[in-house]
Amino acid sequence: MPSYALITGASSGLGLAMAEALARRGYPLLLVARQRDPLESIATELTQRFGVEVLFRACDLGEPLRLSGFLLEIEESDRRIDLLVNCAGIRSYGHFLAQEWADEQDLIELNILALTRLCHAIGNRMAVHGGGQILNVASIAGFQPGPWMASYAASKAYVLSFSEALREELRQTGIKVSVLCPGPVLSPHRVIGRLRAARCMSPEEVALYTVRALARNRAIIIPGKRNRWLARAPRLTSRWLTRKLAGTINKMFRPHQPL
Ligand SMILES: NC(=O)c1ccc[n+]([C@@H]2O[C@H](COP(=O)([O-])OP(=O)(O)OC[C@H]3O[C@@H](n4cnc5c(N)ncnc54)[C@H](OP(=O)(O)O)[C@@H]3O)[C@@H](O)[C@H]2O)c1
Repeated sequence: MPSYALITGASSGLGLAMAEALARRGYPLLLVARQRDPLESIATELTQRFGVEVLFRACDLGEPLRLSGFLLEIEESDRRIDLLVNCAGIRSYGHFLAQEWADEQDLIELNILALTRLCHAIGNRMAVHGGGQILNVASIAGFQPGPWMASYAASKAYVLSFSEALREELRQTGIKVSVLCPGPVLSPHRVIGRLRAARCMSPEEVALYTVRALARNRAIIIPGKRNRWLARAPRLTSRWLTRKLAGTINKMFRPHQPL
């Protein structure tokens, strides 16, 4: 039975860099994002460069029915998924009350529900096959509440907590679970605002660090010394101070928009 690394959000930014880093190490890939065309050209390019099989599937993972269809296809195929990389995620910035509800709902559907459902469905298949590895992408934003990006930070806190819990629960099944918590990454869609590009890591740097950490089965993967310090900082201060500081920083760096 052929086995693959399934990567969501693989057409851009961190997901694309993970696809490249894994293809370089010889993993056959199954790439997922909403738009078909970028996936097709990425699949062709990775196959040419690294000689690995690269399948792709256009699917809006935030649409529960489409996600069901995709999971059914995997269920019915003879493809085995040995590595699941849940990278697809969207952000929201600004005053919570000024956001469109549909955007908030999309964020929760993708960042939380789709990720959890993929872990459940693929995790069950991995358990039947005696093991596998899951990498969920959170953020250093998940280590504290994030005023001015409240639901994004909360969604990443969910991913962090869920992944750590799953790691313990699934230990006996042979499934290894890790969570990646990057700081700012220079991805094409990222709105940098006043945050200087120099403070961001490149997706390739993050991906390289991550595949090495995955090989060592690290629980929480935080690329970059500064980011590791930022992730620790909330445990050293009181919650009210953490909230205030996070709010001040997020307000400074958010894209300009009326509140
Ligand atoms: N960039 C950062 O600074 C940063 C920092 C910390 C954590 N992260 C996390 O890292 C992950 C990747 O971020 P990124 O900035 O690299 O992303 P990105 O460049 O914006 O790419 C997002 C990817 O997800 C896909 N996608 C979006 N909505 C989707 C949906 N509903 N269904 C399926 N695929 C969907 C996009 O392709 P389509 O548009 O074709 O669907 C694209 O491939 C996210 O979880 C993010 O929260 C990012």
